[in-house]
Amino acid sequence: MTTKMNTDPKTEITRVIQVYKKALSENFKFLKQTVRLDDLMAKSIALPDEIGFLVPVCRLHVDDENLISVLSKWRKENFFAYPSQFEVTDSGTKSWLVSKLLDVEDRLLFLVVNKHGKPIGHLGWANGLNDNMEMEVDNVVRGEKEGNPGIMSMAMNALIDWAQEMIGPSEISLKVFSDNESAVNFYRKLGFQDDKLIPLRKHVEATGTFYRSIEQGDNSAADKSFLKMDYAPNRPYDGTKMILTAGPSISAREASYALDAARYGWNNQWSGYIKQFEKVFAEYIGVKHAISTSSCTGALHLALLGLGIKPGDEVIVPDITWVATANAVTYCGAIPIFADIQEDSWCLDPHSFESLITERTKAVIAVHLYGHPAQMDRIVEIARKRNIPILEDAAPSIGAEFKGQKMGTFGDASAFSFQGAKLLVTGEGGMFVTNNDKLYEKVLSLWDQGRDPSRMFWINDTGWKYKMSNVQAAIGLGQIQRSDELIGAKRRIFKWYDEGLKGVQGLKLNYETSWARSIYWMSSITLDKTAKISRDDLRSKLKAMNVDTRPVFPAISQYPIWPKVQKPQPMAKKIGDTGINLPSGVCLKHEQVAYVCESIRKILK
Ligand SMILES: Cc1ncc(COP(=O)(O)O)c(C=O)c1O
Repeated sequence: MTTKMNTDPKTEITRVIQVYKKALSENFKFLKQTVRLDDLMAKSIALPDEIGFLVPVCRLHVDDENLISVLSKWRKENFFAYPSQFEVTDSGTKSWLVSKLLDVEDRLLFLVVNKHGKPIGHLGWANGLNDNMEMEVDNVVRGEKEGNPGIMSMAMNALIDWAQEMIGPSEISLKVFSDNESAVNFYRKLGFQDDKLIPLRKHVEATGTFYRSIEQGDNSAADKSFLKMDYAPNRPYDGTKMILTAGPSISAREASYALDAARYGWNNQWSGYIKQFEKVFAEYIGVKHAISTSSCTGALHLALLGLGIKPGDEVIVPDITWVATANAVTYCGAIPIFADIQEDSWCLDPHSFESLITERTKAVIAVHLYGHPAQMDRIVEIARKRNIPILEDAAPSIGAEFKGQKMGTFGDASAFSFQGAKLLVTGEGGMFVTNNDKLYEKVLSLWDQGRDPSRMFWINDTGWKYKMSNVQAAIGLGQIQRSDELIGAKRRIFKWYDEGLKGVQGLKLNYETSWARSIYWMSSITLDKTAKISRDDLRSKLKAMNVDTRPVFPAISQYPIWPKVQKPQPMAKKIGDTGINLPSGVCLKHEQVAYVCESIRKILK
């Protein structure tokens, strides 16, 4: 970690390692437990140019006689490289498949199949559960020697991309016999570099001849060597495709759940994923109740209605936020009052909030902007003293923490967004959460047309229709199960910007404050007076270099739509005029961030 990132470096590293290990073992387990062919296809990874797929080897394959005999044939041909205590017979292969592959937590094998589903070879992973976060490519075999040119290199690239997106290793390595020149060259072309030689000893046993690492104390000359190679491609991003500001990561999980919901999630199964998603979400945040909604805006509206906000009431909101926060206030006929933001967190300034309180103030909305928490201890203290209900707008900040506690647990109610650019996506969607039983019951009724839960088709109050669909919830469930990995990816991206923009004059990164663990939903900068260019000119120049950016929201009090006209708050105006959200999509690669940093350097020099 860099010195500027405020989380304790040791704790942070431990957390990162834990998230990596969890991602590895859960992803592997999820893929290996498959028992149905349609589900297996949903979990497969498409190779480019429709050449084929990577199909995870799973429980379904254990009694697939055809596949077992193909694998046996390949094992026989490659026995020297993959020694085994299991004899190479079909039943030996079956045992190997179960006890040496499916039952081993950190092993995973993908079949490389062509576009017609014919197995051409396989490759996979081994030995990934270590604190170095190093994954080892294993079992690379091209069994079918003829046809499908280029399929193995595409498969290797796809395998590595998959691991980087889903698991986030620090290193990827492999071992190859050092005298296998064509294999060594194949790996070098893919971006692997030579690391070291590992001496091997020849063993002749009943099951065949193979090679193993030399035991300690054995000083005689090696019979053969492995070359350990590390993945270190030295290819700068070529800038030919626009680097976007956002974009989700969709894994086999979301695809598998969505397919299941689309096929079977109807009639008496219509709400299965909705219930699961709400349950897992509430557990993740650490709250009692969660209600999935069609948007965060809807969740905010419901929360304000639930809190009893009425026409003419005042609700204090920060002057920098997405318009949705204040729109939800006006939906209730109430008046948004715009408070200033802090220079460091870009969130609600407690002093400004306090100064704007009147007897008409009936709620405050603390927005956790761009993944960074608002200073909740001060905000809660001020609000509680005056009995002002607190709503947290955590739309872009799922999983962010204030002094170790998750956002969404401080207020009377909170709202989150799963719109397509957010950390977790369901297309459109949101979540209302609360620990208050009464508020939960009230919002539950308002959320579904005001229905009386005890009487079929009976309405007591005018309600709204803000429900989420089961198919969306299926995607959401897959996403929330991966939330820590996705946060890890966002924090990695910020760290790359921190390294890449070091020493650049005229800009400042939006570092997390000492009390926050930001999820860096957006990595952002502000320009200062020493920058020789305006914010908007910098954005245009970056666009010409195929780097998309977003201006930070303007101070929204300036919009001509509010019931009470107010002057923009000074810090909100300053940040709103000079801030830029840099490309921050969760799938961004290091070389893309390096390209963005280099482009900024060139423009600002
Ligand atoms: C701070 C904030 N609040 C509310 C919203 C609204 O979320 P949704 O689009 O799900 O209604 C957003 C979306 O960008 C946001 O950034």
